[in-house]
Amino acid sequence: MDLNKSNVYECWLNYKHLPHNFDDEYKRFCSYIVAKSNPPIINSALEELKFAFTRFMGRMPEVLDSYPDSDCILVGTLDDAADEALRVSRGDLPEDGFMVHKFERNGKNVLAVIGKNEKGALYGVFHLLRSMCCGKPLAQVQGIDGPRNPLRVINHWDNLSGDIERGYAGKSIFFKDNRIVSDLSRVKDYARLLASVGVNGVAINNVNVHQVETRLITDEFLPDVARIADVFRQYGIKLYLSINFAAPVEIGGLPTADPLDESVKKWWRDVADNIYKYIPDFGGFVVKADSEFRPGPFTYGRNHAEGANMLAEALKPHGGVVFWRAFVYNCQVDWRDRSVDRAKAAYENFKPLDGKFLDNVIVQIKNGPMDFQIREPVSPLFGAMEKTNVAVEFQITQEYTGQQKDLCYLVTMWKEVLDFDTYAKGQGSTVSKVVSGSLFRMEYGGVVGVSNIGDSKCWTGHPLAQANLYGFGRLGWNPELSAQEIAEEWVKLTFGHDKQVVDTIVSMLMASRDIYEKYTAPLGIGWMVNPGHHYGPNVDGYEYSHWGTYHYADWKGIGVDRTVATGTGFTAQYREPVASMYENIETCPDELLLFFHHVPYTHKLKSGKTVIQHIYDTHFEGAEEAEGLKEKWLTLKGKVDDEIFDMVLERLEMQIKNAIEWRDVVNTYFYRKTGIDDIHGRKIYK
Ligand code: GCU
Repeated sequence: MDLNKSNVYECWLNYKHLPHNFDDEYKRFCSYIVAKSNPPIINSALEELKFAFTRFMGRMPEVLDSYPDSDCILVGTLDDAADEALRVSRGDLPEDGFMVHKFERNGKNVLAVIGKNEKGALYGVFHLLRSMCCGKPLAQVQGIDGPRNPLRVINHWDNLSGDIERGYAGKSIFFKDNRIVSDLSRVKDYARLLASVGVNGVAINNVNVHQVETRLITDEFLPDVARIADVFRQYGIKLYLSINFAAPVEIGGLPTADPLDESVKKWWRDVADNIYKYIPDFGGFVVKADSEFRPGPFTYGRNHAEGANMLAEALKPHGGVVFWRAFVYNCQVDWRDRSVDRAKAAYENFKPLDGKFLDNVIVQIKNGPMDFQIREPVSPLFGAMEKTNVAVEFQITQEYTGQQKDLCYLVTMWKEVLDFDTYAKGQGSTVSKVVSGSLFRMEYGGVVGVSNIGDSKCWTGHPLAQANLYGFGRLGWNPELSAQEIAEEWVKLTFGHDKQVVDTIVSMLMASRDIYEKYTAPLGIGWMVNPGHHYGPNVDGYEYSHWGTYHYADWKGIGVDRTVATGTGFTAQYREPVASMYENIETCPDELLLFFHHVPYTHKLKSGKTVIQHIYDTHFEGAEEAEGLKEKWLTLKGKVDDEIFDMVLERLEMQIKNAIEWRDVVNTYFYRKTGIDDIHGRKIYK
């Protein structure tokens, strides 16, 4: 137990801020912990309780295997609690779920945290500790809970060199100089953070699997990969690996990687068998195929189901799964050819394969049809595949959303996605129900998030970006939580209960996505970032478009016509009434107008403003509001940890510079293009 780590490192698990009701409601339980068995995951739960209670009480609690003559906490599985009159049976608890229940025994109070299994007990302990620290009354903490999504997985885009693709928080915590690091203590701290919000899977390497990483599935690396898996296992987290579809050729000495070739199938079976010798609970593979120059089944004239199934068959006997990414598109498409539309690619590639994937394949779909922009519609593939396991992929790392220099609380966006109604089985067919598997009664499914952590002191580069990791887990566990509730929890756990602190930080988080959107790409058009690294403005910048601009801005108008009537026909990929809502310019929401329609700059939005005036106004407002974030933060000096205060302040200053640059570049660009003055007479041109 290391009690000396910095606040910024401990994140939301610091247990330093007790609420007013602690003494009355919880204190009496915090001296004794009863555990009747002590397998590894329960042990992690006990470690957590000991750590937290030591912080709460200033002394270590005692852990016993029988009841003391005092109030206590009981932790265990249903089996451990068989002797207690809990009146709960296995069927009452959801998979990996738990029950928190207070009862009396020989005149003493017992607060029981009982999991359906060991993982459930661990989640129950984190639930209890979070609730205690947030000041929830005990009466509300009792009851049954469990994860709504079976799979809650983090994807790392870490390379063995230690670099992280789209990483904004330092280097990898797993890899260095083409080896797996020897000291895994940081991985253990990470596993704790993840388990505390219910994450149950981690893919440790980049979906772009390069030469060295291709060998992670071999005896050369597996003993070390297994060491990482051992750490995660103690926290109920399975390890996954991203694989290279061409591995049979690149490292297997085979002439082909054709998924229907018997020698290729056998090669993958042998690989899988070998992995499970090292990691008996290995989660499975993550695959990026036929996308952005990665190899895949197309090379052999095969489709994605044939590719995925070949791998799924190899994993099946061991209980593993394949996450097959739907991020498949021709990145070299010529944007002058208006019949091709990148937005249509995932649906076109995958919809025809519905029903063809094996039952241990999960199609992993990015939240939008493009690529993690600050604003895009929900991918129409959700709800379109009724006979296929699917998961939603969110990008926790802020590639297009400020790179952890700019504040952007993404939970608000993810919540919109999960709440979006696909109408797949009539009204109420939300993305959330699609991915949890409940809508179409699929076994697997859930949420995947691209990691935003690295070896930075605060894990996430920007201390407030920790809220995104926290929020990803919490929302994956329970998509019904609101973005605001999640923000409040996170702030209380991280910074404590001072009302000014809570209100200020929560309001900064809640406003941040809109602010970022205001000073960057307007009305759903996307990109406008510098090609390559994707930070800062470049209105015509789009790496794969060497043939003119992807947004089709000229002196008269801007936007991509994706209607059926006159455009690419993308709107037809949605079901009614969504398809008509987007097709019709009258009903298309303002914030997505330029995603779906090409309009003159003088087009009036529902807000009453013209498009050009909206662009000017939002860019002025966005830059001002970015400055406002700093003003707000400054009011917290002395009220939050000094180190965190300084780190955040430094980032907010970077954000202001970035916002001003965006404002000037975007406004100047459109002023030059259109020659239209600002109605408020501001100087637009820089
Ligand atoms: C984006 C990102 C790439 C990443 C890709 C993916 O295009 O810029 O770095 O590899 O998404 O999701 O596969």
